[in-house]
Formats: sequence, structure tokens, C-alpha cells
Amino acid sequence: MKNINPTQTQAWKQLDIFAQNKKDQTIKSLFAQRDRFEKYHIQFENILVDFSKNMVDDETFKVLKQLAEDVDLKSAIKAMFTGEAINKTENRAVLHTALRNRSNIPIKVDGADVMPDVNAVLEKMKAFADKVGAGEWKGYTGKPIKSLVNIGIGGSDLGPVMVTEALKPYQKENLEIFFVSNVDGTHMAETLKKVDPETTLFFIASKTFTTQETMTNAHTARDWFLDKAKDESAVAKHFVALSTNGKAVSEFGIDTDNMFAFWDWVGGRYSLWSAIGLPIACAIGFDNFEKLLDGAHAMDKHFRNEPFEKNLPVILALIGIWNTNFLGATSEAILPYDQYLHRFAAYFQQGNMESNGKYISRDGEKVNYGTGPIIWGEPGTNGQHAFYQLIHQGTHLIPCDFIAPAISHNPIGDHHTKLMSNFFAQTEALMNGQSLEKVMSEMEKAGKSKEEISVIAPHRVFEGNRPTNSILVKKLDPFTLGALIAMYEHKIFVQGVIWNIFSFDQWGVELGKVLAKEILPELENEENIESHDSSTNGLINAFKQMRK
Ligand code: F6P
Repeated sequence: MKNINPTQTQAWKQLDIFAQNKKDQTIKSLFAQRDRFEKYHIQFENILVDFSKNMVDDETFKVLKQLAEDVDLKSAIKAMFTGEAINKTENRAVLHTALRNRSNIPIKVDGADVMPDVNAVLEKMKAFADKVGAGEWKGYTGKPIKSLVNIGIGGSDLGPVMVTEALKPYQKENLEIFFVSNVDGTHMAETLKKVDPETTLFFIASKTFTTQETMTNAHTARDWFLDKAKDESAVAKHFVALSTNGKAVSEFGIDTDNMFAFWDWVGGRYSLWSAIGLPIACAIGFDNFEKLLDGAHAMDKHFRNEPFEKNLPVILALIGIWNTNFLGATSEAILPYDQYLHRFAAYFQQGNMESNGKYISRDGEKVNYGTGPIIWGEPGTNGQHAFYQLIHQGTHLIPCDFIAPAISHNPIGDHHTKLMSNFFAQTEALMNGQSLEKVMSEMEKAGKSKEEISVIAPHRVFEGNRPTNSILVKKLDPFTLGALIAMYEHKIFVQGVIWNIFSFDQWGVELGKVLAKEILPELENEENIESHDSSTNGLINAFKQMRK
């Protein structure tokens, strides 16, 4: 990976000038160009991405593309796909794309093709998921498994949660699935109330198999199970491990036959395609899990081969850079108009913020430009009745991605057309806004007094000019979801390349973990604590007092 300060490129300098010179341009005015939608949308498989409602004209678009060339994005893409150790601070390759490399073209890490291992684990996952799905994997009393409980956190939780929720219509009727991530005992306690040890299968999902939250929850689940089963040998029928750490898995007491492996070149937040996806494969069936991989692979090929101006992840990334670095946006909302996607924003909150939430550049210096935005969002229409007020009339510029399926899995009455009318209305409203003249004339027509009009009208004006992308998919099926996830993954990658940061480490989560380990023993004694600042001491001591 090259080490290029993006602000030193010609393209960046030009974009800075455009941002100044085009201040008065509006998105609405760009639609004077009749074929704008034609030019500014891309159809990929069953996914249509309309990026026309952005403050990007042909000239800006061209220079954004130039920026991608100036930072040599092409060779960065190649480096990732071919297994170079682009995760430099951990000296690792980044190969989630190998996990869904359906064409099986060899991919080498340190001279060895990873595909035979990838395929062997997929085979093992298939055999296991088929057995569980068919009710042939029996618990210690001979009953088939009914409940799947995934114990993991971060990337070992969010991907499987998001996908199993998104693909609920495909879920096997004989199985229910639960997720325990928080070390808060409530999460485990409430889950264990709903399951029966005789028919429950626990997936202990942890890349490192050392994460405090997951190991604590795993031990609690094991104790709970043994309390009922009273037989250590029964553990093998009820606990499987998804990990890269065989030694720690054996030490925990899970037979490595029941371990599904992956490798250090799979980042936690990019791991749902690996053995971490086993609960997904069990819940929706391996055939559907494969379709998810197929969709992601199709997007990988698109990303690798399409020229930048037709390349969805590249375009979305460039528009994001424009919004963040030139128009001043600091956050991005992901707004799915599909209840099944209710964890999609949460998933990419980790994907994006853990990847690109960094201020040190690849040359070890502090950056002097913005990097990863704050990612947030909730499904429409709930968000409309909660936070859209700020998106429409607040002082922050919040670019939004609207995502919706044309066909609902639940076509009840006119629910879906009502939902979709909101989907279309919002991006239109965000772009066009509403002028003072229009508000005043409407109020006049409604017979309001001059005084009332002058007081109320300004509050009813919408400036508009809020950028959005609309992502319309035919139906939320496994293939489409796989492609959609991969599209966002690659968007994150492109932005990391341009911002000249390392997107695949996460040193920023370490400090809190270290301090929590130091504090833990202080909470377990009766002493007054004085080793911290006065606030932390005060809080710890108050906590200890309250517990008395
Ligand atoms: O929060 C940091 C992190 O390392 C994430 O990147 C990761 O997804 C999560 O913890 C869980 O890690 P593990 O799978 O090793 O338990």
C-alpha cells in the first residue's frame, strides 16, 4: 500500500477549489441535466443504486475519480485481493474475499494457497449445519436441537445477528436463534430463561478466544448446562467453538473436532463469511449461506474489475469523501426501509467506525483532515418519527443512505406501498426542501392571518439540499444481502485507502480493556480506592458504598 497524503494530490486541491466555487450550487439545480438519473445510477444484479441526489456534478465526479487514481487505489485493491499483508500494524493479509471466493482461483498467503483450507471448513460447516437443520444432531438426552445460542461480541456477534435477522424469512422452522454478547449478566440470564439445556446448542464465537465478555459468558453457559446435565461428556453435544485459537478452545474444554477454524487474515468485523457464520448457516440452511457468499463474491468481482466510474463501492466511497472532507459532514445515516434490516446500521457502525475511526495516517503522523464518519441509523419509518427532524432542519449535514426492497416478504394489504411512498418522499423532501414562498402561499390559502404567517412560516421552511443515496433492491434474499454487505465493506476499504489510514487494525479498543482489567480487582475488595483521578476514585468508591 502506498503512503500518500491525499491532501497533497492535485485532485484534492482541485476539489477544495470546487467546494468553494460551487457553494451556491444545489442538488436540485443539477437536475436541470435531464439525464441525471440515467447517468447517476447503477444497476448491479437486483440492486439499483441511485446516487444522483448528491451535490456532485460531472466535473466534481471526474476529479473525485482522479483522486482515487492519484492515491493508486487500483494497486491497493490488487494488494488486498492477492493476500499482501496490507494490515501492516498486525502484519496480516486481509482476505475476507477469499472466504467467498466461489471461483476458487488460488489465493496465496506466504506462498501457500488458502483455498483448500477455506473449502475444507465450508465442507465441515455444511455437514454440521445440515445435521442440525435436519434434527439429526442430538443433545445429551437424544432430543434434536431446537435453540441455537451464539455467544460472541463485536464482529463475532453483529454479523450473525444482522444476517439472521435480515434473512428471517429463510429461517428453519424447527430452530430458534439467540445471541448473547454483553458481559452484563442480564443478557445471559434472560436468554437462558428461554432455552432448555437438553435441546440447546451453544456457539462460542471468538476469533481470539480470550475476549473477556465472551469467555465470561461461555463459562456461565457451560456451568448452567452442567448444572442440569451433570455430565462433562455431554458438553461435546452442546458446545461448538468458532475460533482461530485451537489451544484456548481445548483448554476451555471443547473438543477440537467441534471447532470450526478461521485464520488471522480474517478481521473480526469482516468474519461473518467464515466459521463465524456457522450459526447463520444452521439457522437459514447451508444452501442459503452459500447464496450469501455468492452475492458477496459477485460484488467482489464487480469491485475488482469495473472501472471506477461504474464501480459501486468506489462511487459510494468517493461521494462519502466529498461529503466528509469538502462539504463538512461528520456523520452518515443508514436508513433501511425494511424491518428485517433493523441491525444493518449497527453492523456497519462497527464495520465502518472500527475500521476508519483513526487519526494516525499510514506514515505514523496525525492526519490534518477528517477520516471515518459517525455511522448510525434506524429503520424507516420509525426514524422519521424520531430523528429525521434534525436531518431535515438541523444544523448538521447528514448524508443518508436509504435502502428498500421492491418486494416485501410480508405483502400485507397496502403496508408496503405506504412504506415505499415514505421512502421516495424522504429523499425528495431532503433534496428539494420547501421554500418560504410556498409555505406563505399555502398558509394564505388556508386563511391564516398575516401575523400568524410571519411567526410560523420560517419554522416550516426546509432548506433542502441534503444529500442521499437510494438503494433499491428487488427482494431481500441471501444473494442480494451478500452483495449489499460486500458493497459497504469495499466502500470502507476505498475510503481507508484514500484517507491513508490502516483500516484493518483496531488499537483504539485496547486501552479501555487494559484499564478494566486493572480496575476489576479493585472492585472485589473492601478498600477505599485512591489510585486514580478524583472522579474515577469517587465513582468507584460510591459504587462500593451503594452495594453495601
Ligand atoms: O472490540 C474489539 C474486537 O477485537 C473486535 O474487533 C472484535 O470483533 C471483537 O473484539 C471480538 O473479538 P473476538 O472475536 O476475538 O472475541
